[in-house]
Amino acid sequence: MEQPGSHDATATAEGVNRRSLLAGVGGLLAAGGAGALVSPAAAEAVRPERDPRVEALLAKMTVEEKLGQLQLVGTEDAARAALATGRLGGVFSVVGAAKLNALQRVAVEGTRLRIPLIFGLDVIHGYTTNFPIPLAQGASFDPAVAGADATVSAREARRGGIHWTYAPMMDVTHEPRWGRIAEGSGEDPFLAARMAVAKVRGYQGDDIASPDRLAACAKHFVAYGGAEGGRDYNTVDVSLQRLHNLYLPPFKASVEAGVATVMASFNTISGVPAHGNGYVLHDVLKGAYGFRGFVVSDYTGVEELILHGLAGDGADAAAAALPAGVDMEMVSTNYVRYGARLLAERRITREQIDDAVRRILLVKVKLGLFERPYVDEAGEVKAPSPAALAASRQAAGRCMVLLKNDGPVLPLAKSVGSVAVVGSLGTATYDLNGTWAGLGTGAGTTPPVTVVDGIKAAAPGATVTYTAGCTVDGTDTSGFAAAQQAARAAEVTVVVVGETAAMSGEAAARSTIDLPGVQEQLVAAIEETGKPFVVVLVNGRPLTIPALHDTAPAILEAWAPGVQGGHAIADVLFGAVNPGGKLPVSFPRAVGQVPIYYNHENTGRPADPANKYTSKYLDLASGPLYEFGHGLSYTTFRIDGLRLSATRMPARGGRIEVSARVTNTGARAGDEVVQLYLRDPVASIVQPVRRLRGFERVTLAAGAAKTVSFTLTPEDVGFYDNAAKFRVEPGEIQVYVGNSSAATLTASFTVT
Ligand code: BGC
Repeated sequence: MEQPGSHDATATAEGVNRRSLLAGVGGLLAAGGAGALVSPAAAEAVRPERDPRVEALLAKMTVEEKLGQLQLVGTEDAARAALATGRLGGVFSVVGAAKLNALQRVAVEGTRLRIPLIFGLDVIHGYTTNFPIPLAQGASFDPAVAGADATVSAREARRGGIHWTYAPMMDVTHEPRWGRIAEGSGEDPFLAARMAVAKVRGYQGDDIASPDRLAACAKHFVAYGGAEGGRDYNTVDVSLQRLHNLYLPPFKASVEAGVATVMASFNTISGVPAHGNGYVLHDVLKGAYGFRGFVVSDYTGVEELILHGLAGDGADAAAAALPAGVDMEMVSTNYVRYGARLLAERRITREQIDDAVRRILLVKVKLGLFERPYVDEAGEVKAPSPAALAASRQAAGRCMVLLKNDGPVLPLAKSVGSVAVVGSLGTATYDLNGTWAGLGTGAGTTPPVTVVDGIKAAAPGATVTYTAGCTVDGTDTSGFAAAQQAARAAEVTVVVVGETAAMSGEAAARSTIDLPGVQEQLVAAIEETGKPFVVVLVNGRPLTIPALHDTAPAILEAWAPGVQGGHAIADVLFGAVNPGGKLPVSFPRAVGQVPIYYNHENTGRPADPANKYTSKYLDLASGPLYEFGHGLSYTTFRIDGLRLSATRMPARGGRIEVSARVTNTGARAGDEVVQLYLRDPVASIVQPVRRLRGFERVTLAAGAAKTVSFTLTPEDVGFYDNAAKFRVEPGEIQVYVGNSSAATLTASFTVT
């Protein structure tokens, strides 16, 4: 498991000015000036519940033992060293039931209060059975896909001794350069919230003490997706309205769904790093949202307050983070080092320490760790079961997006005599897992099925050849001739291009987001042969592919599809699965358009090709190459019959049913995602030109039809203002229903 090295925290800043630090801790509030960033009622944090066992322990614990519970370390060595002093709350990134039981034994049998450790891991889209990356899951527009991943992952991980996953990641982002776009659900807060809630429920079930469940962790809190320039860890300067309307909704929904823990994010939020940001952690999360679980720092996030420039040294960092609301410190050790001193100096309070310890112990109680600290080593899941593989394959099929299909070239006939697979990703294994692949790539892990093997299995009668043509990011084109020869010799060519797993994920920002290396030229070389071909994309972010769009007759976006990737791709290529995924993020034409997203505000001069003085680029057509919500099928659909149950919605307690009819007008069964968007054309805070507020993925036989309905309430039409107050304003609301964010079927109602 790769981990970023801990930061060299040799900060040189002079001692921090206590007043400015307090201003930071107290929140963004004062920072905005002129009342622009004023908190709602700076809410008191809710008190976590009182559990008799936890209270009894707290009464017995020394300050040192309490601080020990706030420490999380990421290696076995660090764990053993901390346990030797009896000061450790949890361990992450150590795997294997026997190893974890051995560590647990030291905590339970070798420390004074016998408090069990909590074991965490980044189980992001699979443990032994990797599912498609979360961005792909967003493309399914099917929360059941996220739920299936979480359910399978929780069972496998818990049986391996893991209690706690650092998922779901729910950072909404408009930044395709940001590698971590792969880890979330894309650019829309409504979709991200639905997927996040499905994951929380899938991981946690009804009872996290169950041997098949995990405690989930909503991350990264908050606005991490706003990183300037898409460069990881970078600054985020955000208005309160955007913070609450765009970045916070998935977290709010996850807290409502009972998420056990939350992780702070690496970024600043309007000048105050999240790890020292009392407004977001204390006032919003623990106050307004009433979150009763615990907040874990991100990797060395507390210590990084020094390099951010909020703290002068480690003691300052701890004095900023704990009162702000970070309960557990990951990797860096400032709470255990300086906590007692800070308490003596009254820079932190006993109540703050007790509150953090209480929150952590409560999660340990709920996990059942006091009753069952050990895992049954005989039950460890070391390889994917047939059922888990089937679930992963099905999920991957549902995540794929057919971007283009002229001809149509796809699906390919199962009876095809010969297929040439071209592109080095055609035989890729672990790259198909994408970023954060559970147990990773080491010995004993299961490599994904390659595209070549998937095609061979799907078309057993065909001669299948493989020619790399080029590498993913090299410049050598000397393999093109062989690739062209293979294409000429085959009835059809499948060109597999895209990104390696390492090109997206954490610390994997790209300044250009086109196909790396000479892969685009490889596709052009195949086109030159004049033979039929299709392109399969394997990638962890939107790519700028206008040339590919012009060259290739068909493009299938497969993302990083997981352990059954090759089979899932072949399922779609040969029509066993009719693709029904939709883009959870806009695909720009060029990187210079970024940020480009469907849910943008209008300007006073919306783009107009006929008028120079409008909002556009001189050298590029306006709008994305493929819009949010776009995705084709092997059949066709008609959406009509838009109806509203009323024309007026009272701002208090109102409710309108919106329905539309979707008909499969083609010759084969398929899936359509009916999408509902709203627009508020006149509001005190200008509203996005469209906002997704409903979607439903339906499967219809050829000729079949279904009426899909959505219920709208004031919650759907309101928004947060720049005082973080939720407003429902009277006036017209426009409704759009269709199969992408470009939907044209429209109606309207009035909020009264
Ligand atoms: C990442 C988190 C992750 C943590 C623990 C950090 O670098 O930002 O998303 O959960 O490491 O592995």
